[in-house]
Amino acid sequence: MPFAAACGTNFGVGVGCGTDALVLGLTACGLGPGDEVLLPANTFIATLLGVLRTGAMPVLVDCDRHTALLDLEAAEAAITPRTRAILPVHLYGQMVAPQGLFDLATRHQLMIFEDAAQAHLAVREGYTAGSLGLAAAFSFYPSKNLGALGDGGMIVTAEEPVARMARSLRNYGATRKYYHTEPAGTNSRLDTLQAAVLDLKLPHLLGWNQARYALAQHYDDRLAPLADYGITPIRNEAGNGHVYHLYVIRITHACPLNRDALQARLAAANIQAGIHYPIPCHLQPAFENLGYQLGCFPQAETLSQEILSLPLYPGMTLAQVDRVVEATTAAVCTPDRLPVGVAEVGW
Ligand SMILES: Cc1ncc(COP(=O)(O)O)c(C=O)c1O
Repeated sequence: MPFAAACGTNFGVGVGCGTDALVLGLTACGLGPGDEVLLPANTFIATLLGVLRTGAMPVLVDCDRHTALLDLEAAEAAITPRTRAILPVHLYGQMVAPQGLFDLATRHQLMIFEDAAQAHLAVREGYTAGSLGLAAAFSFYPSKNLGALGDGGMIVTAEEPVARMARSLRNYGATRKYYHTEPAGTNSRLDTLQAAVLDLKLPHLLGWNQARYALAQHYDDRLAPLADYGITPIRNEAGNGHVYHLYVIRITHACPLNRDALQARLAAANIQAGIHYPIPCHLQPAFENLGYQLGCFPQAETLSQEILSLPLYPGMTLAQVDRVVEATTAAVCTPDRLPVGVAEVGW
């Protein structure tokens, strides 16, 4: 089954990378100068760049502290007469709640365009990532759940005119050879070799996602006692439809060690933990001109200080998860204050 069909859509337009899928997809949906687009402050910078490159105005919105997903109430409060679209980011592999999105979009006549770069075949409330709105953008960067050996991306849509426009935009704005109708056209191909690799990998994607989920469950179980030490995983509200592109924990103020210190302790134990992302979009120097400051999005700002992505990939073993949990436990627990269930770590 082609990827677009697996996402519950009709058309897939391969492009050079996920960022191009955002730019060309949003443009193909008719967004441009004069339009405002709602998106979360705590996303990878490509989401923001994608909107800016269409000429539309990005309007950043805070997130929920527990799920790290776009806060729909905050999004509603940011709507103006110029708001045309909402761009939910299914961060870490968990979808933004579909029904809440539909309700908001219907109430305010907004277009939904998904950034599904981290959510290949994620499901929530019976909907698959990529099928919620007019179109969606995927990335096939090598580290993604479905990754090529180099860059790649795809726009998926159920609407033929959007697919046709996206095909033209990726191909110099041409509708047929040497006949150019779109001044916004560019050259953004999904490289044939990368497409061949993706074709081979696609049949394994569901199994790999299931493996990620099982590892995440094991992390959840093993890390539960560390709640007493202020360590808690990002909340999963999507059940087994979460595809765990990343397994992210929060090291809250209740933890005796701060996030950076824990990351360093894990690195010393040869365990690489990442931060996705250490600086929210509105505090990046490049976007000072958007007029946001520290304090604009308190949840996103706090999360950026608290989050740590622990190793997770298909093929990782439960014993490797145990080793990460044990190293984390050893770093945060003091001998005089062991939480129930971790006494076996030893001192
Ligand atoms: C949420 C999000 N959006 C967009 C992108 C951009 O994708 P790419 O790196 O393929 O341009 C990424 C990937 O890095 C991402 O994680």
